[in-house]
Amino acid sequence: MSAMKNYSVLILNGPNLRFVGQRDPGTYGSQAMETLFSIFEQKQPELAARVNWTYFQANGEGELIDELERAWQAGVQGLIINPGAYTHTSLALADCLAWIGIPCVEVHLSNVWGREEIRRRSLTAAHSLGVIAGFGIMSYVLGMEALVWHLDRTQTGESS
Ligand code: DQA
Repeated sequence: MSAMKNYSVLILNGPNLRFVGQRDPGTYGSQAMETLFSIFEQKQPELAARVNWTYFQANGEGELIDELERAWQAGVQGLIINPGAYTHTSLALADCLAWIGIPCVEVHLSNVWGREEIRRRSLTAAHSLGVIAGFGIMSYVLGMEALVWHLDRTQTGESS
C-alpha cells in the first residue's frame, strides 16, 4: 500500500474577492469563501487531510506579490490563485508566478470566456498548470483536486 503525501497550498484571492457571495451574486455566486473552507473540511475530508492550506486575500498587486514571495520562501508546494481583474492586466503578477515556479491552478468564479472580450485574455494563465472557471466557489474545490492530482505525480515529498 503506498503512503499518501501531504502538501502545503496557498489559496490566493485578488482584488474585489473579499466579499465573495455578496458581490454581484448573479455573476459570482452567492456562496462566501467561508463556505469553501467548510466544503474542504466537511465534504472533502480526504482532500482536507492531504492539504495544509492557508488563505490570503488582497486588493493590491504588490501585496499579492509579497505574499507569493513569502510562499516561495516558506517552500509552499502549490497555489490556487484567483487574480481577479489582475488576471487580465498584471504583467507584474505574471512575472512573479513565472519566477517563483510554484505549481499553480488559476481559478475563476465566473466563466471568463463567456463575458466581455477583455476577460478572455489572461496574462497569468500561461504560468499555471491550467484554468478552472465558471463554477463559483466549486472552481476552487476542483482546482484543489487538480493541483493535488498534479503534485502526486510530480513531487517526491514527505509521505505520511
Ligand atoms: C474573476 C473574473 C475577473 O474577470 C474579475 O475581474 C474578477 C473575478 C472571477 O473569479 O470570475 O474580479 O476573477
